[in-house]
Amino acid sequence: MATHPITLDYSLAMQSGLSSPAGLSDAEVDAQVEGASNAVRAVLARVDSGELGFFGLPTQREMLTEIEAVASRLPAGITDVLVLGIGGSSLGTRAVLEALRPPAIAGRALLGDGPAVHLPDNSDPWIFTHLLQVLEPAKTVVLVISKSGGTVETAAQMLIAHEWMVKGLGKDGARARFIAITDPKSGTLRQLATAEGWATLPIPSNVGGRFCALTAVGLLPAHLCGLDTQSMLGGAAAMAERCRGLKATDNPAAMIALLSWLHDRERGHSVHVMMPYSDRLKSFAAWYVQLWAESLGKRLDRGGRTVECGPTPLPAVGATDQHAQVQLFMEGPRNKLVTFIGLGHHERDVNVPKNEGENGYLSGASLAQLLEAERLGTTEALAADGRPSLTLVLSRLDAAAIGGLLFLYEAATAFSGELYAINAFDQPGVELGKRLAFGLLGRSGYDGAAEQIRSAQRARPGRYKI
Ligand code: PA5
Repeated sequence: MATHPITLDYSLAMQSGLSSPAGLSDAEVDAQVEGASNAVRAVLARVDSGELGFFGLPTQREMLTEIEAVASRLPAGITDVLVLGIGGSSLGTRAVLEALRPPAIAGRALLGDGPAVHLPDNSDPWIFTHLLQVLEPAKTVVLVISKSGGTVETAAQMLIAHEWMVKGLGKDGARARFIAITDPKSGTLRQLATAEGWATLPIPSNVGGRFCALTAVGLLPAHLCGLDTQSMLGGAAAMAERCRGLKATDNPAAMIALLSWLHDRERGHSVHVMMPYSDRLKSFAAWYVQLWAESLGKRLDRGGRTVECGPTPLPAVGATDQHAQVQLFMEGPRNKLVTFIGLGHHERDVNVPKNEGENGYLSGASLAQLLEAERLGTTEALAADGRPSLTLVLSRLDAAAIGGLLFLYEAATAFSGELYAINAFDQPGVELGKRLAFGLLGRSGYDGAAEQIRSAQRARPGRYKI
């Protein structure tokens, strides 16, 4: 059997491995393997027709040349990168940087060179005003990231940051430090960037927001931090190769999709926990939550029938959550499928000094060993109570591994969309809330929305307020 840098063990998702009917029987899985292979075929057909662009990103190395060219034209002395983007336009970037950079204080890596990267993401004024108070315009580059080019939170932050920089450096100074990453042709951000003369990098039209971590969205910030973007794409390309496998049982993304879907549908395991045993993958778990939730939570199937489907993704981190959520995972409702991620190798480790007494058993043990023992302990404890899990082991957490991991879950999400028979690439459910908010902000064309909110609020009985 070939050994890969990322391995999937699904024995504890199976009845025989788990010794519990909460696991899936071989017959149940076998009966759906053809369906999963068809899901792979269907996605690949859409890839080959050019409809789905994310699958081909790992081999588009010319992206890196473009990124390097844009980065090389930035003024000297940049110490801070302010990334303005939300959802898919920031979560993947955060996941990459957190996995590969030494831990940061205020965005600045504690060791090594490279700028501090700030991802305010939300439009909460608390973070944003503090950031603009401490950042120096001359030493800051602003990346405005939006696939659609019209996301309100990003637009608001962009306008504020632009005014802040123009005040400090004038229009030319701002022009040299603003980079827009957006659709190659359409959208307000594209128009604005062209009018202002900002440098731009494309998010290919056929790559959706939450599938764009392996475009300039994730790669430019990584490059600015001196990370190995070639290896990132290399790891993703190796994973893409595995995820092209038409035999679902050899294709890790197809198996993740199939097992997750079956556990949801056949066992009511509708809460999908992502639990890496590494702080470096906390933001990966957050990225997964958005990808899984926005892609798979759908009212209608592709035939227009109401299905209201979708597993609920839940982020956790080991060992921290052993002191928080694991009590619920162990004794609460039997509605969860946990995915554990372990690291085969920690680049850094430290041993507990020799000591006696109650803590003597820790003498000479390392923190990595402790984390690994805790991961195995929690996995086996859940299994002993018939609670299923999947385990991914990364032989090490480097640029190739994070590229591979991101790709693995993008592919798994696309295959899951086929199994649920929904469109995994849209998000109609977020539209109404947006329209109502636009109405409240006075955006023209949305006046009815503001009135809709007011009359709904008026119609509500007041007696439930205390
Ligand atoms: O996956 C998606 O399309 C969304 O989650 C987007 O990433 C998010 O809404 C931000 O959109 P945009 O990149 O268009 O600003």
